[in-house]
Amino acid sequence: MRLLDPATQPDAIELAAQRLADGGLLALPTETVYGLGARADDDAAVARIFTAKGRPSNHPLIVHVANAEAAWQFASAVPLVAQQLMDRFWPGPLTVIVPRAPNVGAASAGGQDTIGLRCPDHPVALKLLQAAARLGVPGVAAPSANRFGRISPTRAEHVIDEFKDQGDGLDEVWVLQGGFCDVGIESTIVDCTRAHPVILRPGRLTRDEIEAAAGEPVGLSTPEAPDADAPRASGTLLAHYAPRAKLRVMGDTQLSSALDLIEPELAAKAMTNKSAVKPGIAVYSRSLWAHRPASPGVVQRAMPADAISAAHHLFSDLRELDALGVDLIWVEQPPVDPVWDGVRDRLARAAAA
Ligand code: TXA
Ligand code: MG
Repeated sequence: MRLLDPATQPDAIELAAQRLADGGLLALPTETVYGLGARADDDAAVARIFTAKGRPSNHPLIVHVANAEAAWQFASAVPLVAQQLMDRFWPGPLTVIVPRAPNVGAASAGGQDTIGLRCPDHPVALKLLQAAARLGVPGVAAPSANRFGRISPTRAEHVIDEFKDQGDGLDEVWVLQGGFCDVGIESTIVDCTRAHPVILRPGRLTRDEIEAAAGEPVGLSTPEAPDADAPRASGTLLAHYAPRAKLRVMGDTQLSSALDLIEPELAAKAMTNKSAVKPGIAVYSRSLWAHRPASPGVVQRAMPADAISAAHHLFSDLRELDALGVDLIWVEQPPVDPVWDGVRDRLARAAAA
């Protein structure tokens, strides 16, 4: 494991770009989450990502490019709607699915004849992609830099936690430092290969924003109403983004009653066991924590009240709560409002694990 930090090492970006050019694994920051990257045009390099993550190799990855022109190296065609979305949102937290150029990126695309492309809006990622392009790397395939099914990383330290114990025979992961990811949940994915665009995974960009840029109605695939034609893909698996603790999502009244029921039991346990008891339940809520008294065995943490900062903190807070060793994480259901779609989607999938 090697950490490269552009803030303290002047050659960090160059070393990272060279690592990619050489076919190695490099975790890179983006504005959404950290990605585990390898050059997208090299099937052997891409295979290392699948092995390191423990991800089935038929699950397609997103290819990151330095700009819209570079997208043409992986696409056999860029449908008008994809072009409109790229013009409006790149660089930014948007992935477009377009038909794949037949001779490149087969491993990145998980063997499909379509490919997901995205130009990330993060200064370190953009500098890296430009430096790599100068070394002949047309794009970088990068799924979120976590082990398969687990919580996506939003800080370099999370990536280090995920991959520091790579066993013998597994490839070393280098990490490029880029701070705390601003968006906090993965990009909005729009399939542009059908008669009408469909959002396969919600993110910070809302359906309204996508429709406004597309100039036509846009479908939305959700855990409750999945799109039947969507290809199998990890980000759209029902059970995903999961902490080790069992996560449940509940309305605020249900959450309150559940706590009323269990708190006496936990308090009794704390009385009989004089040594410090580790908390059994973590409560992550927008409304309860301020007026519910502390109770033994229960830790409470505030979920931010607005959707943008809730997304920014979501994965990092879930990681911290999980690290306390609790058995249960009880999360208050976010509002049913389109700006919360991304957060609700990730919580629903985490709860299904
Ligand atoms: O924000 C993000 O998108 C992050 C950062 C690192 O850029 N990346 C990310 O990648 O979330 P990953 O591999 O965890 O998610 C890839 C998802 C797949 O699970 C699938 O849902 C969709 O992107 N995808 C990629 N290529 C596709 C394709 N050809 N057809 C359909 N879906 C595809
Ligand atoms: Mg992922």
